[in-house]
Amino acid sequence: MKLTILGGGGFRVPLVYGALLGDRGEGRVTEVVLHDLDADRLYAIARVLNEQAAGVPDAPAVATTTDLDEALRGADFVFSAIRVGGLEGRANDERVALAEGVLGQETVGAGGIAYGLRTVPVAVDIARRISRLAPDAWVINFTNPAGLVTEAMSRHLGDRVIGICDSPVGLGRRIARTLGVHPKDAWIDYVGLNHLGWVRGLRVAGRDELPRLLADPDLLGSFEEGKLFGVEWLQSLGAVPNEYLHYYYFNREAVRAYQKADKTRGAFLRDQQARFYDEMQRPDAAALTVWDRTRAEREATYMAENRETAGAGERDADDLSGGYEKVALALMRAIARDERTTLILNVRNQGTLSVLDTDAVIEVPCLVDANGAHPLAVAPLPGHATGLVCAVKAVEREVLAAAASGSRATAVKAFALHPLVDSVNVARRLMEGYTAVHPGLAYLA
Ligand code: G6P
Ligand code: MN
Repeated sequence: MKLTILGGGGFRVPLVYGALLGDRGEGRVTEVVLHDLDADRLYAIARVLNEQAAGVPDAPAVATTTDLDEALRGADFVFSAIRVGGLEGRANDERVALAEGVLGQETVGAGGIAYGLRTVPVAVDIARRISRLAPDAWVINFTNPAGLVTEAMSRHLGDRVIGICDSPVGLGRRIARTLGVHPKDAWIDYVGLNHLGWVRGLRVAGRDELPRLLADPDLLGSFEEGKLFGVEWLQSLGAVPNEYLHYYYFNREAVRAYQKADKTRGAFLRDQQARFYDEMQRPDAAALTVWDRTRAEREATYMAENRETAGAGERDADDLSGGYEKVALALMRAIARDERTTLILNVRNQGTLSVLDTDAVIEVPCLVDANGAHPLAVAPLPGHATGLVCAVKAVEREVLAAAASGSRATAVKAFALHPLVDSVNVARRLMEGYTAVHPGLAYLA
C-alpha cells in the first residue's frame, strides 16, 4: 500500500512514520512517498526517517520527490500537510493582525482568514490533480485551517477527503482520564467546526459522566482546559470547549499577550525550525536526536501565551505528544482494513447540525469503516455555540468564494464578518497589510 505525504519535508512527518513503523498488521503501508517543493527539507526529513527505520524489519520504503504528479500517481492514501508561505508566512499572519489589535493565530480570526486565502487555491489544485491521477485514493487533510481546507477539497473529492485534528481527541482523552475512565470506553458528545467545538457529554455504558466533572471544582480545575478556561466559566457553559475557544472567550488577554511576547508562535517556530533544517544539512548531524529535542521544545511551548494569561502553568507531561499521527493511522486502518472505529473528524455535515447545509464541513464523531467516515448523531448545540459556528462558517464561505472568484471585495467581507474583527475599516487595513506581505494573495484583485 502506497502512502503519499504532501508537505513531506515537514517537521512532523517523523511522527507519522514512527506510527507506521509500529503497525505490523496485514495491509499496512509498505511504501511512503514524500513530496515537497523544497529538496533540502526532503533531505532533512528523510535522514530522520532513515534513523528511525534502523533495525526495524520490513520498515516501509521511503522515496522523495519534488514532482507532485509523480507523487500522486498510484497512491492509496494521500496525507496533505502543506504550509503555503511557510512559517515566515505564519509569522506575518500574526504580525499584521496584532498591529491592528486583532488576533493573528494560524486558524482563528484574521490570521486564519489570511492563511486560508492563500492555502485554498493550492489545496484546490491538489484536489483536482488527485481526482485525475489517483481517483480511488483517500485523502487525509492535516493542512490548517483544517476545516476550511477540507471543505475546499471536498468540492472536488466529495467524501474521499477527511480532515483531522488532534485537539478534540486530546480533549476527550483528558476529560476521560480526569474522570478515571478509559478513553476507549467513552462516547464523547462533541461537535462544532475545527478548533471551534464543545464537549457536552461523556457517556460510559450509556451514563453521562460529564455532570460529575462539572460539579466537582477540584477535578474540573485539574486538567488543561479547566486551567485554561477556569472552573467557573466551564460551569457556566455546562460544557468543555476546545482549547482554541480560549481565543474567543479571552480574546483581549490573548491578543495582549501575543503583542507583548518577544516572539509570536509563528516567529518562534520559524526560527526554531530554521535552526533544525540548517543543522540537518551538516553531514555529521545526529538527525533523530536533534529532531526529537526540537519536537519536545515545540510541544512544551504550545499555546504558552494562552496558558500564561490564565495562570495555567506548564503542560502536563501526558499532554505533550498530541497524537495526531495516531488519529491518522487509526483512520487509515479503519478504511483500509474495514476495522470499524469511532473518531472525531472533519467531514461534510449531511444533516448532523440542522443549522448548516449538507456540504458544510464540521467536526464531529464519525463511524469509520471501509466506506469512509459517517457522522454520528449528536445533541444540538446551544444558542451561543450555534451563533459562533454559523458566523465562522459564513466567514469560511466568503473565503472559499474569494478564492474561487479572485475577488478582493469578497476577501475583505470575510475579514469584516469575523466575530473577532471589530470594524470594517480594520478588515480593509488587514487586507492591505496582508497583500503587501504575501505574494500568495496576488490573485485577489
Ligand atoms: C494542535 C492543533 C494543530 C496544530 C498543532 C501544532 O495539535 O490542533 O492544528 O497544527 O497543535 O501547533 P504549533 O503551534 O506547534 O504549530
Ligand atoms: Mn488542529
